Amino acid sequence: MTNNYSAAYKKSLDEPETFWSEAAEDVHWYKRWAKVLDVSTPPLYRWFPGGELNTCYNALDRHIDSGDGDRIALIYDSPVTGCKVRKFTYLELCNEVALFAGALKAEGVNKGDRVIIYMPMVPEAVIAILACARIGAVHSVVFGGFAANELAVRIDDAKPKVIVSATCGIETSRIIEYLPLLKEAIHLANYKPEKSIVLQRPELEAELPNSDYLDWETVVKKAKPADCVPVASTDPLYILYTSGTTGEPKGVVRDNGGHLVALKWSMKHIYDVNPGEIYWAASDVGWVVGHSYIVYAPLFHGCSTILYEGKPVGTPDAGAFWRVIAEHRVNVLFTAPTAFRAIKKEDPKGNLLKAYDLSSLRSLFLAGERTDPDTLYWAQNLLDIPVIDHWWQTESGWAMASNCMGLGMLSVKPGSPTKPVPGWDIRVLGNDCEELQPGEVGAVCIKLPMPPSSLLTLWNAEARFIESYFSTFKGYYETSDAGYIDQDGYIFVMCRTDDIINVAGHRLSTGAIEEVLAAHPDVAECAVIGVADQLKGQLPVGLLVLKSGVTKDSNLITLEVVKMVREKIGPVASFKKAIIVGRLPKTRSGKILRGTMQKIADCEDWRMPATIDDPVILDEIGERLKAIGYAKSP
Ligand code: COA
Ligand code: AMP
Repeated sequence: MTNNYSAAYKKSLDEPETFWSEAAEDVHWYKRWAKVLDVSTPPLYRWFPGGELNTCYNALDRHIDSGDGDRIALIYDSPVTGCKVRKFTYLELCNEVALFAGALKAEGVNKGDRVIIYMPMVPEAVIAILACARIGAVHSVVFGGFAANELAVRIDDAKPKVIVSATCGIETSRIIEYLPLLKEAIHLANYKPEKSIVLQRPELEAELPNSDYLDWETVVKKAKPADCVPVASTDPLYILYTSGTTGEPKGVVRDNGGHLVALKWSMKHIYDVNPGEIYWAASDVGWVVGHSYIVYAPLFHGCSTILYEGKPVGTPDAGAFWRVIAEHRVNVLFTAPTAFRAIKKEDPKGNLLKAYDLSSLRSLFLAGERTDPDTLYWAQNLLDIPVIDHWWQTESGWAMASNCMGLGMLSVKPGSPTKPVPGWDIRVLGNDCEELQPGEVGAVCIKLPMPPSSLLTLWNAEARFIESYFSTFKGYYETSDAGYIDQDGYIFVMCRTDDIINVAGHRLSTGAIEEVLAAHPDVAECAVIGVADQLKGQLPVGLLVLKSGVTKDSNLITLEVVKMVREKIGPVASFKKAIIVGRLPKTRSGKILRGTMQKIADCEDWRMPATIDDPVILDEIGERLKAIGYAKSP
């Protein structure tokens, strides 16, 4: 295959308007755009202003109109409910979406209104998402592993007219009751949604608390199907909250037009899939990967997408992924490296794979965290297909760096997500905004403007948007990742430059966990560090300084803070360990030396900071970390 990457990349930067207007021809517009890119108010850029379209039409109706209504759109595979498989053709899915869209309209949801979707991985989550898009409502999906408090924060910020939920989620074999969490969240929030629509799952039939809670089936039975509503290209499609450096999450806002154009383009050019093929993103609809590659992009492209309600291991075993690939003839798989590490841990030789025919699988894409070379080699040897690490953020909405398989595969360098995807002008900058030499580590930034589908703004927080992403490096978007570009133009993304940690591909703010720990009545001061973990990449560990005079058993206090984090942030934080220390190491100006403590915990080389106020404290911390299994030389 000839390699078209360099030419495509060059054109995307030299002539972005031509490049993206050509891509935009591949989607359905009610009204063409007046301008490809509005650059009048940097750093706020808008793609395809003046254009009108509907995202749901492009995901569903369009394929029916072109004669592909009988093609499978969605395959729901749920080992946690006894391996039930449900398949929806484009026509069936469209009918269900139109009816639920009608139900939302009947509850007063109109264009621009927000709808929070707090659901497990069931087809109704996809239906609710697409129903919002159909009527121009703005959805905000909240991941099921968050606690009531986190849901409440999102309710107060998004102010949804309606919340859509279910009676339960299922974690391997454990039933997670959603209604108590939903009720508690609505109780905690200052803003009250008008109604909640609840899907009764056979695994947990629950009584609805009062008339503000409506039964999914009942509202759908009464509903009339709703048509697609044309929206402006620049209207918001969704808000997706992600961790920021404070406890307050950032509501990333995505538009309709740019999102559709970039995601549709990515299916062929990054993933090299064709309409009618089977695409599986083993993620969760609560995360950006789930939004983009379980729901939207595969449907825009006329593929069959898989919604998998299960884990890579334990549902029932480490052969679960191989079963799904073989059973549904998956062509491309996208997941997080942590999922492959989980499989490797349980079945290091890949014995379970031998029972399945994986001949349909052409490539494996990994994202969510850096793919460590060990995992890359293991997956490559086992599957004997290209394994592609690609680099993403919730903010970008799609890959910023990847081996673009549809433009011709480049050679793989382990540890690197390869090169910038067309449209992304990636630079590595030093403190004075100067571009660094190949190999020099600095801040990974994107030269403005960014391509379509990058975030529009932060919901209700334009000033925070500008401050967070554009204030340090003028003319650039700051990704808050550090890394370098090598002599061959390959990008290496090494770590975050802020206090975000990455736990099993989930993005968490250590600051948010610290806020919870600090609320314990016996805690005077605290810090949270992300320590290396073989399975999850990183795990949060708390360091607590107690108020003077506290005599309570320290084990009890650590158990209490672990419970608090689970209740306030959610089990997804995987916060299980905390230690009590005499004091925290700080610089003379009072900055807590989290980085040094993390290096000690991970047995990395570290240097005594010249500005530390009390060097002895680091020895004590090292000893305490050893007692809980860290800071030990391998
Ligand atoms: N609802 C309720 N609870 C949830 C949940 C949900 N949707 N998702 C996770 N949790 C809970 C888990 O049950 C677990 O609880 P526990 O502490 O009681 O065991 C906790 O949150 C941590 O979950 P997780 O990080 O998923 O760990 P795990 O041990 O259950 O599974 C992996 C480990 C590696 C198998 C799993 O993390 C995985 O598949 N990760 C892939 C991540 C991913 O897709 N990321 C998206 C970016 S591409
Ligand atoms: P999220 O917004 O949850 O998708 O998390 C985004 C962050 O995850 C990025 O800023 C990176 O720190 C990290 N990340 C995601 N994919 C990769 C990758 N392929 N390589 C390195 N880091 C990654």
